[in-house]
Amino acid sequence: MSGRNGVFIAFEGGDGAGKSTQVRLLAEALRARGREVLVTRQPGGTPLGASIRDLVLHGDHVSPRAEALLFAADKAHHVDLVIRPALAAGQVVVTDRYTDSSVAYQGAGRDLGADEVHDLQMWAVGDLVPDLTVVVDVPPEEGKRRRGEVHDRLEAETDDFHASIRAHFLAMARGNPERYLVVDGTRPPDDIHADILGRIEALSSVGPGGGAAP
Ligand code: TYD
Repeated sequence: MSGRNGVFIAFEGGDGAGKSTQVRLLAEALRARGREVLVTRQPGGTPLGASIRDLVLHGDHVSPRAEALLFAADKAHHVDLVIRPALAAGQVVVTDRYTDSSVAYQGAGRDLGADEVHDLQMWAVGDLVPDLTVVVDVPPEEGKRRRGEVHDRLEAETDDFHASIRAHFLAMARGNPERYLVVDGTRPPDDIHADILGRIEALSSVGPGGGAAP
């Protein structure tokens, strides 16, 4: 657990995959088990992050490199002010999106290069990597159907853009199965939740007798 007391869990996936529902169900389940849970999201999660979120999701055109830097700035600030202190205090931190979103959306989607964006993101977060990343996977057409109307600049992108993002999340997960869990987001939410909770309880620091539990 890289010297920290808490547990860090990230949720990733395309727009409309159902991440937020799973974040909520997981937080409720962990709290019911007596864990202190911090739920947060990116971009956003701090007052500065909320401003960056507005600029990057709801503003006018943003050049791709500027977009990558804004998402990185949001994460740098968020990790320093919110995530690291919570982990140091032994909390379970559950974030709706993290660095892999940038690798997929800016690296693959915007063609900035996955390796370059990954390096930028790791610099921004001081190499803080989640204990587990859950990828909630749905076919892009299903994500589009669930989203309904378009809410932001990224959602408004083409079907090819969203297909390449999905392929990228799945490739990252395939490359590191011990640090990723891919769940089929088209299954009933309670079934998906059960799989996620089972995997998280198997993490030594969360399961029965886990070190940081009160
Ligand atoms: P949000 O409303 O949080 O969408 P969702 O509910 O799908 O998570 O919007 C976040 C959008 O920002 C989403 O389209 C993904 C995108 N994004 C990036 O492009 N790069 C990033 O680093 C992050 C964190 C998000």
